[in-house]
Amino acid sequence: MSEHILEMSNIVKEFPGVRALDDVSFQVKSGEIHALVGENGAGKSTLIKVLSGVHPNGSYTGRILVDGVDQQFQHIRDSENVGIAVIYQELALVPQMTVVENLFLGVERGKPYAIDWDTANSEAKKYLEEVNLDISPSAVVKNLGIGKQQLVEIAKAIAKKARILVLDEPTAALNEQDSANLLEILRQLRDRGVSCIYISHKLNEVIEIADSVTVLRDGKTVSTHDMHGANRLDEPRIVSLMVGRDLTERFPRVEHTPGEVVLQVRDWSVQDPDDPAKNIVDNVSFDVRQGEILGVAGLMGAGRTELMMSISVSVAQLRCVARN
Ligand SMILES: Nc1ncnc2c1ncn2[C@@H]1O[C@H](COP(=O)(O)OP(=O)(O)OP(=O)(O)O)[C@@H](O)[C@H]1O
Ligand SMILES: [Mg+2]
Repeated sequence: MSEHILEMSNIVKEFPGVRALDDVSFQVKSGEIHALVGENGAGKSTLIKVLSGVHPNGSYTGRILVDGVDQQFQHIRDSENVGIAVIYQELALVPQMTVVENLFLGVERGKPYAIDWDTANSEAKKYLEEVNLDISPSAVVKNLGIGKQQLVEIAKAIAKKARILVLDEPTAALNEQDSANLLEILRQLRDRGVSCIYISHKLNEVIEIADSVTVLRDGKTVSTHDMHGANRLDEPRIVSLMVGRDLTERFPRVEHTPGEVVLQVRDWSVQDPDDPAKNIVDNVSFDVRQGEILGVAGLMGAGRTELMMSISVSVAQLRCVARN
């Protein structure tokens, strides 16, 4: 049998006006953590969507082999059936449901119209243990932190007998501790034989965890590297492979003078619709100058979207009032 659990060869995927994947070949060994890196738009997510059946067979050319067997996925379910599970950054859990309900959604334990909750709960405990999650199966998902929710998704993948676990930017919204915890779980899963495809812009994580690294650039495979061999990559080398030239500075500063203040926000708060006693945005103030890019940082759930949406809605309302 091939040492590769997964072989994708000569994949070409086009969208109107864009060749997102241009003859990409990508191979993953059994029981390894294989990082897939590349600049924004390099084609990483598209490759995963081809692999998972989101872009069905026929919408791309090239071959996909799992355990040496040709695959023609038409739907996500087809790829799941051979053990491929993708965990996206936007998690796919139902927030209002419990952990156990989410774990077995669509594959409920027991008979139709008679779910066997004892079996479901005891199986759930086993899967939660596998990802070191010390929570009750009856906990409601929306009350869990984002790091825990992600582990529930991984537990769900394991419950579906995933053998190839794909994570697309899994730590983008996690704090340092949750990120470290996730990496540790992935190592444990690898040691139990689960292969993992790990997509991340955080190259320090890639170096820490990857057994192999494949670099994509402009929809093409640049190269694959063994991270245990003498030629293992360091961060600057990965960056230069990603961008195709040596870089002395990753984000060179460009001289620029912003103009006068055009938007001033003072003590802005937004009430939580689920809990009026709480503010999801609490006393935020900032200025925006003409011709300036203002970065708004924060973890998932910090209120960035609510802040921006509430301000834009209010500005639109003010414009309306002014016009009338
Ligand atoms: N559904 C789509 N329709 C049209 N173009 C698309 C679609 N999906 C991706 N593309 C294009 O294909 C190219 C590859 O995009 P892709 O999302 O795979 O990149 P990526 O490597 O995942 O980038 P990022 O690091 O930003 O997530 C880009 O030029 C993108 O604009
Ligand atoms: Mg992507």
